[in-house]
Amino acid sequence: MRPPRTPAARRVMDLWAAGDRVGRLHTTARWWSAPFAELELEVPLAGDILEIGCGHGVFSTYLAITSTARRVLGVDIDADKIALAARVIEGLEPGEGHVRFETLPSGTVPRIDGGWCAIVFADVLYLLGRERREALLADCVDALAPGGLLVIKEVDTRPLLKAKLAQFQELIATKVLRITDGHTLEFSSSEELVAVLADLGLSTMAKRIDHGYVHPHCVVLGTRPSRSADLGN
Ligand SMILES: C[S@@+](CC[C@H](N)C(=O)[O-])C[C@H]1O[C@@H](n2cnc3c(N)ncnc32)[C@H](O)[C@@H]1O
Repeated sequence: MRPPRTPAARRVMDLWAAGDRVGRLHTTARWWSAPFAELELEVPLAGDILEIGCGHGVFSTYLAITSTARRVLGVDIDADKIALAARVIEGLEPGEGHVRFETLPSGTVPRIDGGWCAIVFADVLYLLGRERREALLADCVDALAPGGLLVIKEVDTRPLLKAKLAQFQELIATKVLRITDGHTLEFSSSEELVAVLADLGLSTMAKRIDHGYVHPHCVVLGTRPSRSADLGN
């Protein structure tokens, strides 16, 4: 559990403090429990960044504020969360960060000329089930620029006790409180995610980012080959 310590983190929390009570509580709880500061360090500092399943938009906004050279698009299937995110970022000062939000149907990966510099998932893929997850990741790889990065933050399946606690909380969030939309609950280990990305032709790496947190947070990174590597040069 970590409080928002940096000026950028505190600014993001202040923006949401002006939003509605439920959104505010949810985003504060999210910041304390998810390693957003550690995850931000894995995302390129400049270029077009897509976050799929951005929820209330806290991490997308944090990415935009921590580097104004990033242009961030956050998308989610939940129109209410996106409406709140869009309202909250109206509080940004001009030039404080480039971020926008869109509601999109499940499985949609928006395309841009030249491809995305990075596509980010933070605690989303476990909600999709294996087939949808693998199809979506294949689309993401297509939508990345050559040399672009896929950044996947999930809760690992080890150590078992920490993983079971996280899985129980997700069960409550999706099936009882219904604060998270998703097709299913299917948790993958970081090794399984690495294998999926490697099968898609990415060079991969996995890291734990759970120091000081209750849940076994991990990040899996996959880099699309640059054009010269595509051509075998
Ligand atoms: C646990 S929340 C994480 C939200 C945000 N990434 C964060 O870290 O605070 C999972 C989010 O994934 C979204 N989601 C579930 N299935 C999705 C899909 N197929 N496509 C896009 N978003 C999806 C949910 O609506 C929800 O906002």
